[in-house]
Amino acid sequence: MTTRKTNNKIVVFGSNGLLGKEFASLSGKPNGLEIIAYSKESADITDKTVVTKIISENRPNAVVNCAVVVNVDFCEKNPLTAWNVNTIGAGIIAEVIKESNLTDTKLIQISTSDIFGGSKKKYVENDLPTPVNVYGWSKCGGEQIVQQIGKNFSENFYILRAGWLYGDGRDTFIDMVVKTLKQNQLLEAINDQFNIPVWTKDIVNVALKLISEKKPNTTKIYQIGASKKEQGVTKYDIAKEVAKILKLDTSLIKKCSFKKTHSVKRPTCTVLAHSDNLETISWKKSLENYLLSRYK
Ligand SMILES: NC(=O)c1ccc[n+]([C@@H]2O[C@H](COP(=O)([O-])OP(=O)(O)OC[C@H]3O[C@@H](n4cnc5c(N)ncnc54)[C@H](OP(=O)(O)O)[C@@H]3O)[C@@H](O)[C@H]2O)c1
Repeated sequence: MTTRKTNNKIVVFGSNGLLGKEFASLSGKPNGLEIIAYSKESADITDKTVVTKIISENRPNAVVNCAVVVNVDFCEKNPLTAWNVNTIGAGIIAEVIKESNLTDTKLIQISTSDIFGGSKKKYVENDLPTPVNVYGWSKCGGEQIVQQIGKNFSENFYILRAGWLYGDGRDTFIDMVVKTLKQNQLLEAINDQFNIPVWTKDIVNVALKLISEKKPNTTKIYQIGASKKEQGVTKYDIAKEVAKILKLDTSLIKKCSFKKTHSVKRPTCTVLAHSDNLETISWKKSLENYLLSRYK
């Protein structure tokens, strides 16, 4: 049996994506972590042989699954691929950890506010999922399969949900706002869909905290979202905040409806209530830190 070299060996799947790159960026830094990052090219999570080899060779203390098919339109047209990666792939990782009998290995299955889509203003951890499209259903399936496989085996399988992501890993709506306003062009921003923007650095910090905790937590689902005082915001609100922070022209930002821009059904409100047992995160403060680190 191979022994573990450190207490902080973390395998990351999907390391070439927006969130995966944030985890991978910790690699090689003097932080006491051994990050072993796998892109889709080096590890397809739907290939059980590949996942088994990686888990059995590394015997990690934690696995973070950032691999996903995230494009909502693509998922709608390619449901088999969406379910295969977002549900079955997540299940394969969980099952391999179980088959390797790694009861102490923590699994952080990254999930999304898009598993919701009903009429609530804020969703708590145990609200019944109500997805409205293939992406949401397939991510909901990922949560379910991980929890099912973890049942009666591990206390260490966690679901970590978040709202709209942004970060250095790839350009998102936030960067599009900056670029458009810097070029003094008009920007149409959706004003009838509500969520909370989440910096990838904040997700990484929450995940690392869950990983570093010595005892298994009784809570299995965590949410990064709106604090008690906050409500969900629209992309129009976020664009205004971006302009305010970077002192750009807010009059260039116009409201539009998601019904005009999206053909696939999208949820109107998917605001997650920030988990009580997580440190509060101010989305405005995080946005400011991100913008100042990248654009000033
Ligand atoms: N983006 C958001 O706004 C958002 C919001 C809430 C939650 N989330 C969640 O956050 C997590 C990360 O999302 P993200 O935005 O970082 O997505 P992303 O930027 O699209 O990154 C996902 C990565 O997974 C890779 N991948 C796709 N299929 C794979 C497979 N079969 N095996 C291994 N890797 C595969 C992709 O490679 P290719 O690009 O080459 O296909 C990509 O590099 C997901 O769980 C997502 O549901 C995202």
